[in-house]
Formats: sequence, structure tokens, C-alpha cells
Amino acid sequence: MWAIKLLLICIFQAQGSCEGDRCDAENSALLTIPRQVVSTDKLKEKSISTGKVPFTLAGKSIYFLVIDRFAKESGDHSYCKKQADWTFNQNRGGGYCGGTIKGIISKLEYIQGMGFDCLWITPPVQSNSFMGYDATNLFEINPHFGTKQDMKDLSQALHDKGMCLVVDIVLNHMRPLVVHGKLDLDSIVPFDSPEYYHQRGRAAGQSFEEYLKEGPPGAFNGQPDSMKLKKLVKRKSGVTCGPVNPDQTECDCMPGNSGINCPSFDPSLLVQGYLGSLGDLNHSHPFVQQQMLSFVTGLVEDYSVDAFRLDTVVYVDLEFVKEVQQAVGVEILGEATVNNLTYQAHLMRDEKNERILTGLLNFPPFYQLPTAFCGFRMGGEFGDWSTQGTWAPHGADITGLGEVMSAQLQSGEYESLDLLGNFADNHDENARVNYYCKEDQLRIKSTLTWVMLAQGVPIVYYGTEQNLLGHQPKVGGIGQDEMRESMWQSQFKEDTWQYEFLKTLNAVRKTHQIGAGASEVKSYNKDQMVFTRACNAGKREAWVFLNNKANTSLHEMTSYCPGPLPGIAGQAWYDAISGRRMDQHLIEGCLKSPDAEPKVLVLQMDQVLYS
Ligand SMILES: *[C@@H]1O[C@H](CO)[C@@H](O)[C@H](O)[C@H]1NC(C)=O
Ligand SMILES: *[C@@H]1O[C@H](CO)[C@@H](O)[C@H](O)[C@H]1NC(C)=O
Ligand SMILES: *[C@@H]1O[C@H](CO)[C@@H](O)[C@H](O)[C@H]1NC(C)=O
Repeated sequence: MWAIKLLLICIFQAQGSCEGDRCDAENSALLTIPRQVVSTDKLKEKSISTGKVPFTLAGKSIYFLVIDRFAKESGDHSYCKKQADWTFNQNRGGGYCGGTIKGIISKLEYIQGMGFDCLWITPPVQSNSFMGYDATNLFEINPHFGTKQDMKDLSQALHDKGMCLVVDIVLNHMRPLVVHGKLDLDSIVPFDSPEYYHQRGRAAGQSFEEYLKEGPPGAFNGQPDSMKLKKLVKRKSGVTCGPVNPDQTECDCMPGNSGINCPSFDPSLLVQGYLGSLGDLNHSHPFVQQQMLSFVTGLVEDYSVDAFRLDTVVYVDLEFVKEVQQAVGVEILGEATVNNLTYQAHLMRDEKNERILTGLLNFPPFYQLPTAFCGFRMGGEFGDWSTQGTWAPHGADITGLGEVMSAQLQSGEYESLDLLGNFADNHDENARVNYYCKEDQLRIKSTLTWVMLAQGVPIVYYGTEQNLLGHQPKVGGIGQDEMRESMWQSQFKEDTWQYEFLKTLNAVRKTHQIGAGASEVKSYNKDQMVFTRACNAGKREAWVFLNNKANTSLHEMTSYCPGPLPGIAGQAWYDAISGRRMDQHLIEGCLKSPDAEPKVLVLQMDQVLYS
């Protein structure tokens, strides 16, 4: 099923300036890297030449938006949810709703009002469709979105506000090569010739057009293996998969799962095979390498990009990814839809002990998150886009999230746990958090508190704060396109409870300096989870208490073990979210919370004693 998903996704997926003490206070994950890669590492050079800590995403929080769907310049407030045309061999793309870069600039105060440090935008380069992951010209800005000057203005405006800019890039592919039934390379800049694309399995004498129309080898199809694997597990044959197995935290064969249970995984096919009809670039070709490097470094030069988000990482030759990471001199968060933690960690630093990417979007715990607090299983069978997902018959269960989170924190394999991007939803998966939590305020709060406080870089998808639902079944729509609706109809209200809550969580992070820094899972079970985070520049610990009760249980007493020892010497534990004193609820090594709201306990001066 995953493969089906990939084919479709892929169709759609088919510094810096951070001012003020809040940034200085965070430790740079990069500076603490004990091992070194290659001497041409620009990140390293920068820190040596300036004597300054280079910009790091560690400790920052990110707001993520789809350029075409976020904000218009005009006052048009009509809802828009268009689909691009990906009909096989037609590939007209499109799907534009009219959001622009200037529109984004006009809403930066709205975004900063929630306390976010950085903005991640979908690919701004000229592309065939509104999503931007199907580029037609790497060196132009999509005219639907604006101009090069608009991009410069956006970068400047963010930096003036002490915020940072994260730009999405795609190295793996360009737009589909067959358009309206014909091979069409002419308008692809700069890769306008068949030699730049993979041609594995092309028969002698076969034209490139025929090769493409026949369907070149796909990059990955784990579906048959996944079905066999599930059967084996059902038969209790001793095969383990799912969260308890750190090498296979999903009971599915996804990229990075190999061995006897997932024999279809072929790293060379992953690189050379096609994602649907998207033009799969051959990074062994010197021209492709050189142009890609100049594209990415050019973005840093032209727009002072602070960091990148890199699409479909596992489908690109990782040796080339390594080169790009070294050349750009800024951090990159890679998208790797994987569940094997060892494989995931090796995308940061490989078996040769060389750095590949500084950071990654954190998919393994994401796959557990909707189940943990809201009892939802994404996509039913993983990756089946014909379903939205289902609510688990046994309800919410935190165990899987606890397993994966503990395994990651304890594995010792990750170069930096501070550069794993945590999220509750995005533009590809099957449901938005407000939807999969059934608009239950308490459960959404628990989910968002996990995203904002788990170790890593929290990433919040636009519209979460406006209760966007992704228009699922209510209006009849399902699938990825539903996750990409317009935002302007919300009129950017700043008084929704989600807006207020995200603002509070960002403030909690800043006030108590819970940014980069260690975390420890203290306990978890089906119903709750307790973990700690380094705070106050690593001098102290904040305790996070989460449960998955529904809003009808909001006022129930909720007991968690362990909890911190009560404060001493004029100090007491306060809940950083509500500001309430909690010392009196720390009883016999546990927290007996008077309600079910998420709690973040920090040690502060005891106001009762001093008042
Ligand atoms: C990729 O390009 C290189 C250099 O041009 C070529 O030798 C190789 O066969 C190509 N690989 C595929 C799978 O097309
Ligand atoms: C997980 O990934 C590692 C590293 O790539 C690999 O050696 C191992 O076999 C994988 N495990 C499974 C169960 O696929
Ligand atoms: C409580 O949860 C239900 C769904 O179970 C939802 O319909 C309702 O709007 C929620 N109310 C609040 C205040 O969260």
C-alpha cells in the first residue's frame, strides 16, 4: 500500500538572523558533533571563520505553509480546494488557488503572533502545479506566487522580525516528462535532455518516450511484502514488527526495511526507479550534479535561506545528498518516510561515519501520534489513499508512541535528536489533527503539546490554528488534496483557542528555555505518558504529563507516576501552561493532577511562601 501512496504522493510530492538572547541561549547541536566529516564542510567553515555559532534550527519552532493556499493579496475570502491534474500521460498540473509570497508577507505578524521562530514554505520555484514539487525551472520563482524580488522581500521581512526562513527543495525529480501524451523536455530548465534522467531497463532501440510511456521501473513497492508480513504476524510465527521493534516500528515494509521479511527493498532501485511519472534525475551525471549544486547554493545566496527542507531524500543518491549538505552551509531537514530507526539515524550519519543530512522530519513517532491521543490510524492500511484512515476500535493508545520515542532517545545512533522535526500532520498524510481528534479540544491540546515539547524541532501545519479539518468526509472529499485547502476563508482570526494555545506553548518554550536539549521518557502506558526535557539552558528539567482522555473527562483527577519531588528552599513546581502551582499535587512520588489538561511542570520561586 505504501507504494501506491508513494506514487501518488510523489506526484505531489510527487542566516541567518535570529536575534535576541533566545537564540543565543540554545546550544548548537552542530558544535557538539564530536566527529568530523570532510574539510569542505561549509557549516564548519562558517563557524570557524566567523567565530560564531552558525544558525541552527535546534531549539526553534516552525510554522509550515503551502504557498498557494495560505494568503492572497486581495481580500477574497472564498474557500478554495482545487486539485492539480495528474491524469496519466496528461499531467497538466495546475490547481492554483491564488496564494502568493506577498500574501505571506502580509501575514507574518499573524504567524509571529503565535510565537513561531521560523517559516517553512513549499517549493517557490517555477513548477507545473500549485504544490511546487514538480519543478519546470529551478532558476525562476513560480510566477503564480510572485517574483524573485518578492522572495527577497519575504526573507528580509522575516529576518527583520528575528525569524528564519526554511525553503523546501526537491533534488530527486522534475515534473512529469510526458505531458499531453508526448515527451516534453523542452521547457524543463535546466534538464532538457534524456541523458539527465534515469534510464534503467530501457531497451536498445527503444525511444525515451516509449520507455516512459511503458512505465519505467518504480522506485519502491513494499505492498506485497507488507501483506506477507502481516500474515506472518497473524500466524504468530515469531516475526515481530510494529512499535516494539525499533527496526520496524510499523508492520509494513517501507523504504529502509530489508531482510527476509521485506525482500523487495532494493537501494539501487530506490535511487534509479521512478516515482510515478515524475522525471527522475540521474545524479551520476556531472551536469545534473553541477546544476543542482548551483541551484541550492544560489537559493542561499539570493534569499539568505536559513535552512532547507529536502523532499523525498531516500530516493536520491545519498552520496550526492552528502555533497549538497556540505556545499550549502545551512542545515537541511530531510523528508524520509521510513519506520526503521536504525535506517533513519543513518540518514544523518552513515555507516562510514560521514554526515549525510543534519536533520530529518521525524516520521516514526508521527505514525504513532494520531493513535496515541486520538485513536486514529492514518490511511487505514498504511498509504491507501482511498481511505482517510479509521478510528481504532479500542480507542486511543499511547504505548506505540512511548515505544518509538524511548527507542529514539535511547538508541545512541542519532547524530542529533534536536534536529528531528516533530509534527502532527502535513500536506501529504491523510488527515489533519483537528479532524483525526474529532475536534476534541482536550485531545488536540495533548497532541500539540507533544509536538511542541518532545525533543526536536516542532513543526505546525498552517490552518491547525483555524480548525481547518481538511474537509474530509463531511464534504465528501478524501485523500491528500483535502489536506491542502485554502486558509484565507478563516480570515486569520487570532482569537481561536488553537491560536491561543499554540501561542502559550511557544511562550512556555521561550520562558523556560525548553528548546534544544535532552529528554527522558519516565513512563508510558495505554493512557498516559511522562517525560522530561532539559530547560533553563540545560540547568533544570521540565516535566511533561500527557494523557489521552476525551473532553468529557476534562475535570477528572488524573494521576501520573513518577512525578518530580516537591520543591524545596522557596521553590515550587508550577504548571507552565496554566501558571497554576502544582506542588500540593505531588504526592508519594506521583502527580495527582486535579484535571486532565496537559501539564508542563517547571520549578519556580514559590509564590505562596513569598506572598
Ligand atoms: C546515469 O548517468 C551515468 C552518467 O551519464 C550513466 O553512466 C548511467 O548509466 C546512468 N544511469 C541510469 C540508471 O540511467
Ligand atoms: C533497518 O535498517 C538497518 C540499516 O539500514 C538494516 O541493517 C536493517 O536490516 C533494517 N532492519 C529491518 C528489519 O529492515
Ligand atoms: C468534545 O469532543 C467532541 C468529539 O468527541 C466534539 O464534537 C466537541 O466539539 C468537543 N468539545 C470541546 C469543547 O472540545
